[in-house]
Amino acid sequence: MDTVRIFDTTLRDGEQSPGFSMNREEKLRLARQLEELGVDVIEAGFPVASPGDLAAVRAIAGEIRGTRVAALARAKQQDVDAALRALEPAAKPRVHIFLATSDLHLKHKLRTTRSEALQQISRMVRYACERCEEVEFSAEDASRSDIEFLCDAAETAAAAGARVLNLPDTVGYTTPEEYAEIFRRVRARLAKYPGLIFSAHCHNDLGLAVANSLAAIAAGARQVECTINGIGERAGNASLEEIAVALHVRQSRYAARTNLSLDKIYSTSRLLSAITGISVAPNKAVVGANAFAHEAGIHQDGILKNPLTYEIIVPEKVGVPARTLVLGKHSGRNALRCRFEELGYRTTDAELADCYNIAIAQADEAKHVSDRDLLAIIRRVRQNQATPEGAAESNVAAAR
Ligand code: KIV
Ligand code: ZN
Repeated sequence: MDTVRIFDTTLRDGEQSPGFSMNREEKLRLARQLEELGVDVIEAGFPVASPGDLAAVRAIAGEIRGTRVAALARAKQQDVDAALRALEPAAKPRVHIFLATSDLHLKHKLRTTRSEALQQISRMVRYACERCEEVEFSAEDASRSDIEFLCDAAETAAAAGARVLNLPDTVGYTTPEEYAEIFRRVRARLAKYPGLIFSAHCHNDLGLAVANSLAAIAAGARQVECTINGIGERAGNASLEEIAVALHVRQSRYAARTNLSLDKIYSTSRLLSAITGISVAPNKAVVGANAFAHEAGIHQDGILKNPLTYEIIVPEKVGVPARTLVLGKHSGRNALRCRFEELGYRTTDAELADCYNIAIAQADEAKHVSDRDLLAIIRRVRQNQATPEGAAESNVAAAR
């Protein structure tokens, strides 16, 4: 089984998105948690962007000893120097240099030519390799680049000493088949450079970031760049928890594992939400509030008989305290009986029938029935059934 390295960019690409910026202390707290989670690389920031970011990267580099710490730099000497300065105290540093390779970016954004770009890649990767033990090169907008030129750029970076080659889908434009083909082509062209690690970096503009990352893994990528809760530029980056759990659940398909402690996923997601004040959507895969909640009666009944009927992930595996059977208007009697037992009430058939009718009527109005509501309902039903008329009515309901 191969290992896919997890390169977490929550503190860089994630932090760049509106509402998610973090101060030095907050970044440090999250970096400690990421190390606990077991990510292989923490991209701590973009040091040239601001003195604050440089200081935050430096603080993380000074404290995190087991996990590699990366700092981003454009292919410019002032950026690489800032990254090197920030990484000075790191036990395992990586300078991450990027330059766009699509004609669109070269012509309109950088106003440069292909041959100048190749020279810049060669010069800056070599410069960084002479000063740092590990260098990654990213061909920004790789998925919209001419494939032959992308291969030229990747080869230039490899020849200059880059150990990791990242082929980002910067604008979330590619599709799984297309992205896999890019990896196959670039890998084939660079077969003469042993030991290179190919990396995927996907944005979610078309909702394909995780699918594209998995396609890249199937095509030989052995590093994926992703973020907690999928935060990041625009529609976000590929979500770390979704990729990690997909690799775990579909192990026989991908034959690849990660070094993550999956049971720390939920607490890491929660910590990020607590720091940024932005919670995840309830239907977010793996870490959303509804990811392990079941409301439909048929599903609840199946789950109670065997969780595999409607769950492909065991909640505890990713650190979610427990699944919840939500009591709403779609719920069934079996789930209600079970919830009463958890609350300490063993119900007779007659009691359950009355409670069920009341709970469903209440759910129709209020969407959900809380444990407090249930306790009030069972007390009311028991009091009512204690009277001869109430008991007669309940027997009729239970028989229906
Ligand atoms: O999306 C992207 O291309 C990036 C690079 C800087 C790696 O974030
Ligand atoms: Zn990005």
